[in-house]
Amino acid sequence: MATTLIRNATIVTMNRNDDILQGDVRIEGATITQIGAGLDGSSADRIIDAGGKVLLPGFVQTHIHLCQTLFRGRADDLALIDWLRKRIWPLEAAHSEDSVYYSALLGIGELIRSGTTTILDMETVHHTEAAFQAILESGIRAFSGKVMMDYGTEVPLALQEKTSDSLEQSVRLLEQWHGKGSGKIQYAFCPRFVVSCTEELLVGVRDLSEQYGVKVHTHASENLGEIEIVESERGMRNVVYLDHIGLAKPNLILAHSIWLDDEEKRIIKERGVKVTHCPGSNLKLASGVAQIPALLESGVTVGIGADGAPCNNNLDMFQEMRLTAFIQKVQHGPTVMNAKQVLRMATMGGAEVLGMEKQIGSIEVGKLADLQLLDLEDFHVYPSFDADWYSRIVYAATRGDVDTVLIGGDVVMQNRIMTTIDKPLVLK
Ligand code: GUN
Ligand code: FE
Repeated sequence: MATTLIRNATIVTMNRNDDILQGDVRIEGATITQIGAGLDGSSADRIIDAGGKVLLPGFVQTHIHLCQTLFRGRADDLALIDWLRKRIWPLEAAHSEDSVYYSALLGIGELIRSGTTTILDMETVHHTEAAFQAILESGIRAFSGKVMMDYGTEVPLALQEKTSDSLEQSVRLLEQWHGKGSGKIQYAFCPRFVVSCTEELLVGVRDLSEQYGVKVHTHASENLGEIEIVESERGMRNVVYLDHIGLAKPNLILAHSIWLDDEEKRIIKERGVKVTHCPGSNLKLASGVAQIPALLESGVTVGIGADGAPCNNNLDMFQEMRLTAFIQKVQHGPTVMNAKQVLRMATMGGAEVLGMEKQIGSIEVGKLADLQLLDLEDFHVYPSFDADWYSRIVYAATRGDVDTVLIGGDVVMQNRIMTTIDKPLVLK
């Protein structure tokens, strides 16, 4: 088992006590085994000198579409349903196995370079095995699954599946990929949103997710047009409908959740449903402002995701953290969300969304070594200032400051150079 010692870091632990320590971290295999000052490095296989650098937990992004990475620049200035219909769905329908693979590989490269070590991903209807292959080769920790769409007047026929095919193919992918990559890969059922799913499909997802004990990842209440379709076709609001089907449970993860009424908020809270905030996407698609402070205040677990690359043109958690704070400040005033709360959503919050709060999201002995080392030397301040690390990270750090990234103890980027997935990309 390889041993790594990270030396002399400023360790922003994100543990329960909000400890910020000066010292070393020992990693044995995939796990953090010691945190302290002056740890003995004589038996370490690898020593990383982190003097002057900041060690943070890797970011956990709880809503990504790797398959959309290559769709940037043709997807602008439309609201959700038109954007899907005119831009995203035709492109998803045109995907080949190769293009899904490279879309995923490029997306993962961007994610790791900007400090993200775990993702909850949603693929397209076809070629999901190619995305899993890219995930496996990259070493990123990922929950992913094929998107499920068996209905919808707006959905192109090329992306509509028979209900039974959608369920069977999902189970086949689950059986093939769940637990692969030394446990780093997990399957999640991904019914795209109520607009594109029959009740029969959603009931099937409910039963299968229970049977296999896996997550369900969907979009809900992102856009007023979407809600209108759901209300007119199902006679209920999104979350009420999901609850009516029996899907509103702790394993359900809802992306966006902007336009929630009081009953929907009550269901989310009482059933332990998780929410993913996508601030860049919500702004660019003009979807709206999610009421994140109120959700957090009521005890709902909230993570952050960049959504697909066309939604905001990058997959960068530093940008998403800043937007999370800015949007709420301009609406509710400057004290509504502090930097520590935002950084918490990007780390422990995401871990809790995925039910992995005991394994990832903070730097603690016994947790997996999913870590990022930031070099903030370009951030000039009076040396006599007390360092407010949370504000520096949330408001000043950029993806270019990410120096080294480890996932499960493996170095996947060092000195800003990817060590795992720098391979020549040949696009057909
Ligand atoms: N709702 C259904 N599909 C999508 C998608 O691909 N992206 C976003 N942002 N919302 C969706
Ligand atoms: Fe999305």
